[in-house]
Amino acid sequence: MSNLETLPAWQALWERREAIAETSISGLFAADPDRFERCSLELDGLLLDTSKQPVDDTTREALLALAQAREVAQQRDAMLAGEPINTSEGRAVLHTALRVPPEGAGWAGRAVADEVRHTRERMIELATAIRAGQRTGATGKPIRHVINIGIGGSDLGPRLVLEALAPDADGPAVHFVANVDGVELARALAECDPEATLVVVVSKSFGTVETMTNAHEVMAWLRRSVPADDVLERQMLAVTANLERVGELGLDPALALPMWDWVGGRYSLWSAVGFSIMLGIGPTAFGELLAGAHGMDRHFAEAPLEANMPVWLGLLSVLNGTLLGRRSQAVVPYTERLGHLSAYLQQLVMESNGKSVDAEGQPTHLPTAGVIWGQTGTPGQHAFFQALHQGTDVVPVDFIGVARPVAGERGDPLELTANLFAQSQALMQGRQGEHLSVARLCPGNRPSNTLLLELLTPYTLGALIALYEHRTFVEAAIWGINAFDQFGVELGKVLAVDLKPALAGAADTDALDGSTAGLISRYRAWRG
Ligand code: F6P
Repeated sequence: MSNLETLPAWQALWERREAIAETSISGLFAADPDRFERCSLELDGLLLDTSKQPVDDTTREALLALAQAREVAQQRDAMLAGEPINTSEGRAVLHTALRVPPEGAGWAGRAVADEVRHTRERMIELATAIRAGQRTGATGKPIRHVINIGIGGSDLGPRLVLEALAPDADGPAVHFVANVDGVELARALAECDPEATLVVVVSKSFGTVETMTNAHEVMAWLRRSVPADDVLERQMLAVTANLERVGELGLDPALALPMWDWVGGRYSLWSAVGFSIMLGIGPTAFGELLAGAHGMDRHFAEAPLEANMPVWLGLLSVLNGTLLGRRSQAVVPYTERLGHLSAYLQQLVMESNGKSVDAEGQPTHLPTAGVIWGQTGTPGQHAFFQALHQGTDVVPVDFIGVARPVAGERGDPLELTANLFAQSQALMQGRQGEHLSVARLCPGNRPSNTLLLELLTPYTLGALIALYEHRTFVEAAIWGINAFDQFGVELGKVLAVDLKPALAGAADTDALDGSTAGLISRYRAWRG
C-alpha cells in the first residue's frame, strides 16, 4: 500500500486544509437548514450526529474519495473474511466472529464458527450452574463473589461493561484486580467470603507478570482460607489462549475456557474473556451485548461508505488528528455508567494505532493516533472544559448521552442532557461581543460529535463498543498501519525484569544510565 502522503486523494485534502480549519461550522448550519438530518446516522437506538464538524460538501466528497482510494471497504472485507491482516504476526482478526448469532453462522469467520459456538455453550452451562447455585464452592457454599484477575484487554472490557450494565446485574458481585500494587487485591479480598468466591484468571498469554503475581496471591488466600483439598479445582478458572501454561499455575487445563490468537486482547470482551460479564448479568443479557455488536458489524459491512457510522467516525478522526493537527481527542459520556469508557478507549485506540511505521514497515511520515482521554460529564465540565473552550489547542470531543434514564436511578436527566447539548453548542458557537472583555471571549468553531443512545442496554452498549472498534480499524486502514500488534509494550516489560535484581540490591547498577541508577539508589535508601 502506497504512503498516504503521496496519495492524490490525501493531497487534495492537504491542499484544502487551511480552508477546512477555517470553515465556519455555524455558517454551514446557516447555509443548510437540513444539515442535522444530512449529517446524522441512526441505527437501532443509537444516533450519531456529526453535523458539528467543519465538513462541507466538498470536504465530504474528498473524505469519501480518500476512503475509496485507501480501499477501506476491501480492507474491512478482508478482515471479515478471516484473511491474515495482522501481517506482523501472521494472524487473522476475527473478533466479529464472536458476535455472530448461531443462525447467522457463515456471515463472518466461518472457519472458527464451531469453536466459538462450543466455547459459548460451555460458558453458558457453567455460568448458569454457578448463578443458580448448582455449582458451588468447594465447601458447598453458593458463589456470591467473583474476582476477575487480568490486565489490559483482559480487564478493561469486562470492567467497562459491568459498570455500564450494573442495573442488569443479578449474579455474583464481580471484583476486578489488575494492578500489581496490591490495592485492588486487598479491597477485593476484604469484601469476599473465600468459600463463596470464584477466581477467574484471564490472560491471553498466561504469562503477564501482574496477572500471574495476583493469581498466586489469590491461590494462597484460597488455600489458607478454604478447608477443602479441591478448592483450586472448584474455585479457580483460567481463560487463556495458552493452555499449556495453565498447568504451570497448578490449574487443570481441561477446565480452562479457551481464547484464540485471532482475537486481540483489546478486542476480546466478546470471547470467554467476558465470562465474568456473563456471570454478572447472565447469558441472556450477554447474548444481547453480542447482538448489539453484531448489529454494528453488519452495518459496518453493509452500509455504503457515505452512510456508515464507523467509516465517518474514522474519517473525521483522521481529518482532525492528521490533517488539522488536533493531536488529542476527548470522549465525554454523560453518565457515570460509562465511567470506564475513556480507559477502555485508551487501550483500544492507542495500543492499536499508536504506530509510526506502516504495515509494510515504512515510516508513516504523517501522525497516527494521538491521545484519547476523557471523563464523565458533568464533572468534566468543572475540570478540563475551560481548556476545551478557551485553550490554545483545539480538542475534538465525542459527547455521549443517554435519552432514557434507567428506571429507579435518581438524578435530573433534563439537567444532565441540557448540559451535554449546551457544551457542544458552546464549543461550536463560542462567545463574541464587543462589550465583553477579552478574557471572556470564546473562539468557538470547535468540533464535536454527539452519540445519543435511546437507552443504555446490553444491546446498545455492544453496538457502541463495536462502533469504536471499527472506527479504530478505519483510522488504521487510512493510515495503512497494522492495528492488531503491540510490540511497543514489550521493551518496558523486558527492562522491568532486568531491573528487579538491582532494586532488591542483588545486582549493581553500574551499567545503567545515570537517572535509573540514581532512582534505584534513592529507592533502596528510602526502602531501608
Ligand atoms: O501489555 C499489553 C498487553 O499485551 C495487552 O495487549 C493485553 O491486553 C494485556 O497486555 C494483557 O495480556 P494478557 O491477556 O496476555 O495477560
